[in-house]
Amino acid sequence: MKFFLDTADLGEIRWAEQAGLIDGVTTNPTLIAKSAGDVDPTDILKEICSLVDGPISAEVVAVETEEMYTEGKALAQLADNIVVKIPMIEDGLVAVRRLSADGIRVNVTLCFSSVQCLVAAKAGAAYVSPFLGRLDDIGHDGMDVIRETRAIFDNYDIETELLAASIRHPRHVTEAALLGADVATMPAPVLRKLLLHPLTDRGLDRFLSDWSKIAHPSKVEV
Ligand code: E4P
Repeated sequence: MKFFLDTADLGEIRWAEQAGLIDGVTTNPTLIAKSAGDVDPTDILKEICSLVDGPISAEVVAVETEEMYTEGKALAQLADNIVVKIPMIEDGLVAVRRLSADGIRVNVTLCFSSVQCLVAAKAGAAYVSPFLGRLDDIGHDGMDVIRETRAIFDNYDIETELLAASIRHPRHVTEAALLGADVATMPAPVLRKLLLHPLTDRGLDRFLSDWSKIAHPSKVEV
């Protein structure tokens, strides 16, 4: 399973990249707005693309086909690793088809059902992004969409990558991995939590404390 970082925060991206933990980045207008301040969003996207050697999703803010297509083409020019993110709306699907035909990879976002994922894949999406956490928030089980979409894509040998988004905790990552999602995109705090277990910390404390009881402890020299 690939891990993407769901952020536009350059500090978080540098940390995750240097730790070798991520394969790509997803952004959205909310995340860019949070990080941009006075900085041009385009400059943030270019910087992210130079930091991470993997797909970087950048979302259009237009909502009509022609504008989405034009904006998507412009985003794709920013760097070779840009993936254009298009919302799952009717006008968007036409833009997906046109951008894909031009060889531009598209991530269809704001998917909340498996059939939306199927429609997006048929339009030529390279990635579909069902939002787990937001479904859980309204009392649904977001993981049902991952399960159903995986089965549908496998039934028809669809190569579109299933990208589990709106991930809120490590259990979401585990379950999405068990169900065969190709990618999980998550905020930095969730990525950090994937590394942690209280028994690991307790076990290490115990090992070091026991080692310190040896009269003349020595390290193995190379
Ligand atoms: C994915 O591409 C989205 O940016 C993201 O996962 C949305 O997550 P949220 O529901 O936590 O905002």
